[in-house]
Amino acid sequence: QAFFKPIQSTAPPSATKRNTKISVIGVGNVGMAIAQTILTQDLADEIALVDAKEDKLRGEMLDLQHAAAFLPRTKINASVDYSVTAGSDLCIVTAGARQNPGESRLNLLQRNVALFSKIIPPLVQYSPDTILLIVSNPVDVLTYVAWKLSGFPSNRVIGSGTNLDSSRFRFLIADHLDVNAQDVQAYIIGEHGDSSVALWSSISIGGVPVLSFLKNQQIVYEKETLENIHKEVVNSAYEVISLKGYTSWAIGYSAANLARSILRDQRKIHPVSVLAKGFYGINGGDVFLSLPALLGRGGVLGVTNVHFTKEEEQRLRKSAETILEVQSQLGL
Ligand code: NAI
Ligand code: 2OP
Repeated sequence: QAFFKPIQSTAPPSATKRNTKISVIGVGNVGMAIAQTILTQDLADEIALVDAKEDKLRGEMLDLQHAAAFLPRTKINASVDYSVTAGSDLCIVTAGARQNPGESRLNLLQRNVALFSKIIPPLVQYSPDTILLIVSNPVDVLTYVAWKLSGFPSNRVIGSGTNLDSSRFRFLIADHLDVNAQDVQAYIIGEHGDSSVALWSSISIGGVPVLSFLKNQQIVYEKETLENIHKEVVNSAYEVISLKGYTSWAIGYSAANLARSILRDQRKIHPVSVLAKGFYGINGGDVFLSLPALLGRGGVLGVTNVHFTKEEEQRLRKSAETILEVQSQLGL
């Protein structure tokens, strides 16, 4: 006997809500931080988890399911079989090796490229219309690899890129000036890694452009002070990894923030890894790196076409060359 007596539905078919489904590939520190942020922020009706380690995967699924009484209702499934991801709106890839203390992201390339050839094709097979959000490192090169392996148009292949670095940048500036980081607009672009570029000309707080404000007030600001803040951003992950072994919470929020803009069609601007060829004088080849991009339900809807200083453009091109050099070893 059913617990509820069914009543005949009077809702018109058009009132039936379509489910939003997110798949997370890799249930390590990063995948789980992303999954739990997505759950608490009520961003999906269904979450599918995939990993190669069956026991760990089932353990993580059960542990999340056991929080059901405290969370918005979300169906959580997990399997080593990719059929569990079928019909995903968004697939977030976090599987792969992570850095040892002191190791650079680019050093992970060979290990993680091999994994991607096993991960991307089944995701595409089961969700041909999905948007791919790549998080595994080195994220810019792996986003290129995912684009190549998927055969998707570039607007549906996005790397989490410097959305995280920009949050670190905003935190450090906000901390320095004792204001709320959400009121600080500031971008890091380029490689999510050592050659990233700080857009000093872009910083504004509560709508006030900071550099010109300081100049008008004849407040001397040392270029070195600014460079030190950028160095601290670049060093952030190394520091956290040397202290706790990995980074997780900040990327969890960063990826959920991107998922919201994409799935809820927010048309927000995020610095994320996109196909950058043809923008800002980057013409050397098909390279993915972070540029301020407009995100919505279609994925990447556009890339801002704003003025960077000569120095910023030069640094961005150098960052593109660094990534292209690493990419050229792939033979894809
Ligand atoms: P982790 O070692 O905790 O988790 C990796 C997971 O991938 C493991 O559960 C492992 O079983 C799984 N995996 C390995 N091969 C697989 C396969 N073929 N199919 C499915 N799953 C597989 O590592 P963690 O800390 O979660 O980091 C994951 C990745 O995320 C690393 O590459 C790391 O560098 C990157 N990362 C990227 C960030 C970004 O801002 N883009 C931020 C933080 C980490
Ligand atoms: C981070 O920036 C390691 O890419 C990772 O936290």
